[in-house]
Amino acid sequence: MADLDIDFYESEDPIWNPALLAIPMPGIRKMVNLASTMNDVIHLSIGQPDLPAPTHVVEATVDALRAGQTGYTMDAGLPELLEELAAYYGNRYQRSLLPENILVTTGATEAIYLALTSTSAPGREFIVPDPCFMLYAPLIRMNGGSVKSIPTRAEFNHQLDPQEVIDAMDQNTCAVVLNSPSNPTGTVYPRETIEAIVEEAAYRGIYVISDEVYDHLIYDDKTYPSVLSCCSDLDHVMVISSFSKTFSMAGMRVGWLIASQGAIKKLRRYHMFTTTVANTPCQWAGVAALKGERTFVDGMLEEYTRRRNRLVELVDQTPYLSGYKPDGAFYMFPALPEGINGNNVALRLLKETGVCTISGQTFGDSCGSALRISYSTSIDRIEAAFERIIPWMAKQDFA
Ligand SMILES: Cc1ncc(COP(=O)(O)O)c(C=O)c1O
Repeated sequence: MADLDIDFYESEDPIWNPALLAIPMPGIRKMVNLASTMNDVIHLSIGQPDLPAPTHVVEATVDALRAGQTGYTMDAGLPELLEELAAYYGNRYQRSLLPENILVTTGATEAIYLALTSTSAPGREFIVPDPCFMLYAPLIRMNGGSVKSIPTRAEFNHQLDPQEVIDAMDQNTCAVVLNSPSNPTGTVYPRETIEAIVEEAAYRGIYVISDEVYDHLIYDDKTYPSVLSCCSDLDHVMVISSFSKTFSMAGMRVGWLIASQGAIKKLRRYHMFTTTVANTPCQWAGVAALKGERTFVDGMLEEYTRRRNRLVELVDQTPYLSGYKPDGAFYMFPALPEGINGNNVALRLLKETGVCTISGQTFGDSCGSALRISYSTSIDRIEAAFERIIPWMAKQDFA
């Protein structure tokens, strides 16, 4: 109960739709708000890249504004961006896509919102890995659908067992939600996992909704098995991504959804009734990002790989934390000993050492004994954080 946001949940005002009760108090906000009242905090809580956006992207935004690109675009998105995205995905995954397969949205967040709320309804079930990005379950539940969680574990690098997902499918299953690389675990599902799930889902008429916002943050030169490269057609998939993580453009709010032309037609109308269109100058910035050099992404990958490797070593040296080597994104989700309350640990760590992590519980019901650590901060800061965490953990009695 101590975690509840009383103002939000216990309002006497009957105006509010009871569906809002499905929205949890975001664990991230709570920690970051508390941290903002403290001095000398080291954040391992950040969910966005810490590098500045590439100069040519910023310049394209300013150029678009100066050129008077301040009106609405077409509802599906800026035609130039749709063309660029179709060409870019076509090249990357050797599959032909038309601009009509794409809808440009206000960040991946709007695409997730459209995908989940246009399919969720009472009696429909969604299979979702646990832990997962915290938006999915509330959006499903707000619209009457239910969530069937598939727990994953640090000792198996938070990999998903495809057979477990397939066994969870039944006549009520509406969709499987995937997020690879995952926030909060950094896990990348191998091609066999994606193929097995996508194939069985298509056979049964179940959708796969795939959140691929970290699709460029893949380490060790591995190729990325996107759902788009594992499906024979687009009839039962919705693939979501954005510029937020790949080009450090989170605040510019441009994302997209890729699906069959029929699905895009439906979602396009819904999109007009939600946000109308995405930000126009930033869609031009997206065109520049896709057309530009890959040096920005390569540099970012190099930097995050160094940080990831250092974090793996540091977690290894930390009493009571069981880590693993994440293959993507910029998160690790180490386990605490079973039964140890991650909320308390994250809160005490912040109050007693000034290091801000996020409790595992924020990302799923099976994750009470875990922490999310983000390495979207410099190696120096990561090392400074562990100079505080390691001695603090050594003093605990979590056995
Ligand atoms: C897995 C995942 N999906 C979607 C988003 C939101 O992305 P966007 O900024 O494009 O809305 C985030 C942001 O943290 C995320 O981690």
